[in-house]
Amino acid sequence: MIKLSPSILACDYNILGTQIKEAVEAGALYLHLDVMDGDFVPSISFGMPVIASIRKNTNVTFDTHLMVKEPIRYIEEFVKAGADIITVHIEACSDVKATIERIKSFGIKAGVVINPGTQVNEIEPFLGMVDMILLMSVNPGFGGQKYIDSVTQKIARVRAMIDETGREIELEVDGGINMSNIDTVLNAGADVIVAGSAVFGGDIAQNVEMFLEKFKEFEEGK
Ligand code: DX5
Ligand code: ZN
Repeated sequence: MIKLSPSILACDYNILGTQIKEAVEAGALYLHLDVMDGDFVPSISFGMPVIASIRKNTNVTFDTHLMVKEPIRYIEEFVKAGADIITVHIEACSDVKATIERIKSFGIKAGVVINPGTQVNEIEPFLGMVDMILLMSVNPGFGGQKYIDSVTQKIARVRAMIDETGREIELEVDGGINMSNIDTVLNAGADVIVAGSAVFGGDIAQNVEMFLEKFKEFEEGK
């Protein structure tokens, strides 16, 4: 089943809880939490206290995207804050396997992320361990950027790699996805769609419903 993972990076933090509630009630199954450390990426977003705080008000799956250098240092704290899935950048870990193992040791799902400039074969060594692969379709660090078209072929390639394993691995794509390119992303084989500005810019419920309608059309047409 294709899932929408709205990125709260595009929320109005003054009314964060209300906006999350609106997205979840409209049918979003995941919530994408973009944690930025000001080191692996230029900007700083939010961390454990914000996640722990929103955890009190929703049971939605917390899809936690760590744009953090050596995230192994913080896994336990993010699990305690309420993460259900944690994805880490291959580029940010000196020991990717140990980082995945640390995440899995807490009984939650683990995934790896690659930047637009990183080759898909970098993922290969971890295919037997991960529950999710996240492909960045913008350079991480900021919301509201344009989808990088050359990532479409990477999605298709990773879809084939996943299918070959026979394992259940979700394929998530993150950055610049909106109504004008969602078809391309779905056709290439993504099954978890991140959207920040396309969900939280404007009418949240209506935006979520438009995405879900697209997913339904796509799944029925398969
Ligand atoms: C970028 C983040 C993305 C981004 C998505 O560093 O990982 O999740 O905020 O936002 P949009 O959909 O606005 O590109
Ligand atoms: Zn993200």
